[in-house]
Amino acid sequence: MITELFTSMDIAGCRIPNRLVVPAMVTNTCTKEGMVTERFIKYIEEKAKGGWGLIITEDYAVNVNAKGYELIPGLYNDEQMEGNKKLTEIVHQYESKLFCQIYHPGRQSTKLVNGNVTPLAPSAIKDPICQEPPKEMTVEEIRAIVKDFGDTAGRCKEVGFDGIEIHAAHGYLISEFLSPFTNKRVDEYGGCFDNRVRFLNEILESVRTAVGKEFPVIVRISGNEYLLGGRTEAESFELARHCEDIGFDAIHVSNGMYASAPIDQIIAPMYTKHALNMEVSEQIKKLVSIPVIVTNRINDPKMADTIIKMGKADFIGMGRGSLADPHLPEKAKAGKFDTIHYCIGCLQGCEQKLLEGDILTCLINPRVTREYENELKKTETPKKVMVAGAGPGGLTAAYTAAVRGHQVTVYEQRNDLGGQFKSAAYPLGKGELATFVSSMRKALKDLNVPIHINTEVTEELIQKEKPDAVIVATGAIPFIPNIKGRESDKIVTAEDVLLGISDVKEGPVVVCGGGEVGGETAHFLSQTIRDITIVEMQNDILNDMMIMTKICLTGYLHESGVKVLTEARVNEINEEGVIYTNASGEMVTLPANVVVSAFGYRSFNPLEEVARKYCGEVHVIGGAVKAASALHATKDGYEAGLAI
Ligand SMILES: Cc1cc2nc3c(=O)[nH]c(=O)nc-3n(C[C@H](O)[C@H](O)[C@H](O)COP(=O)(O)O)c2cc1C
Repeated sequence: MITELFTSMDIAGCRIPNRLVVPAMVTNTCTKEGMVTERFIKYIEEKAKGGWGLIITEDYAVNVNAKGYELIPGLYNDEQMEGNKKLTEIVHQYESKLFCQIYHPGRQSTKLVNGNVTPLAPSAIKDPICQEPPKEMTVEEIRAIVKDFGDTAGRCKEVGFDGIEIHAAHGYLISEFLSPFTNKRVDEYGGCFDNRVRFLNEILESVRTAVGKEFPVIVRISGNEYLLGGRTEAESFELARHCEDIGFDAIHVSNGMYASAPIDQIIAPMYTKHALNMEVSEQIKKLVSIPVIVTNRINDPKMADTIIKMGKADFIGMGRGSLADPHLPEKAKAGKFDTIHYCIGCLQGCEQKLLEGDILTCLINPRVTREYENELKKTETPKKVMVAGAGPGGLTAAYTAAVRGHQVTVYEQRNDLGGQFKSAAYPLGKGELATFVSSMRKALKDLNVPIHINTEVTEELIQKEKPDAVIVATGAIPFIPNIKGRESDKIVTAEDVLLGISDVKEGPVVVCGGGEVGGETAHFLSQTIRDITIVEMQNDILNDMMIMTKICLTGYLHESGVKVLTEARVNEINEEGVIYTNASGEMVTLPANVVVSAFGYRSFNPLEEVARKYCGEVHVIGGAVKAASALHATKDGYEAGLAI
């Protein structure tokens, strides 16, 4: 039972209606000039509609060259104020409170995104991700930025934000001054703790001069940077006490810097344990009397409630949780936990898109940042819609069409829902993928959408049902290239191994194909089998994975003793095992008891032609168009559901 989450709490006199916080997240939806857009406002409004107690905006630049991403907002000039006034007015139609996060990215930026200016830092040490040599700041430059923070804060108050979060976490400029990992100065801004906090002290002073003592100003810190020579928890505890002493009104505990290992990242992947910062925030809570917010890998409202109940934090930040389901709070309040679309920590739509310089999206919720396009209003012309295939694309299409009032029926040839997403939950660390399928199942049930499993959509069925529209979501199927021995009974598919349909008892096992599926299946098998080798024709494995999750899985494969052969082209599978050609052109035989086929997938579209014979409206989506990721499938599904 939830007892704490929906109680209110004050931050410096600002009443936050519940304990669920949307932490700052860059969306890349503003203009190059740092102006907010309709798209940005609608994205935030959706969260206010969903009932979040406190929404913290993405990081606002404090000057024109303080950008870590090209399309973030700013409040460094007066022209930027009008759009923000509109934003605060809109959010204030709801109960949510809205704080503005303000920042300078320091060395975690590039000339490309911040107006062709060399990034600034306390010391001239490159960030390993951004790879741009920064300039060591002069004292004059420090003073100018201190003033920028104050000026920006003044505008925040004037446009109607309820409070400000100063971003002193994640390896951005303030955090760089605080951390011995990035601050090697020997003047009054570097060296001992008192010197390293001076920049933060001066920023808060400048902000307080602009907004006064009563206005809520909170700080975000990394409790642990998880870096050799970075700030550890002991110093973060000292920092937390210091933040209260100098007059911050709450402390938001996060972790990491760009330089941290993927598993310890700011945006932790699915392999990281839940609520990794809760022990640090608990200690901080014991030390200070101001409220404490904790964030990272908390995606479940019941877990959030328990963390508060245990006294580990006062507020819970759910960043990606709010992307996957902006309506999580209202669903949790109504006790409808099984209808929540939970974040699975895949990073494909959020972090990956930002790394590509693109706009934020979400595999689970392709509508996120696209709220401005439509209101998902009920259609005036409901149609009879047949969805063939219940993978992520088909489920999303059915859901979207049904929300819009169409009369939808889902057909799935297999005996269960999820398509490839079902087996994708079996590898180690990926169990949460199952939540997507289960919550879709429930959502469709609530929308009265019949789901027929073990039912193939055939010409006869289309003739009988006479749908107005057919969505072909038949997905992709495993593919074995045309090699000698491809019919061998040694061969099993990766999917059958994961689902337990093929029981692999003894090695040696050769996994053909070192993409995500091959890598995960090898890792999965390494729990019970010795002597596993991945054979990959490219010069590296896991090339289809998001970089952070790729690094994690590469490490796990190494730890579990899985051997990897790259630049190895499989020619034949025979009684002995796998014959491949290596980089030098030699033919090598690799003994195998079992050969796991993870060569790849090809699109499977047996229905389009037939459907077009009987039905004027046919949409082919996801893997049925082209074998690609689930991110593409749900996007296609959403768009098909809207197009009908
Ligand atoms: C796409 C994306 C952008 C982010 N941008 C910011 C940001 O602007 N400022 C910030 O302090 N944290 C940022 N973060 C970190 C989040 O606030 C949060 O700490 C992180 O996602 C972990 O929490 P979660 O597991 O609840 O998502 C971002 C995270 C994501 C996913």
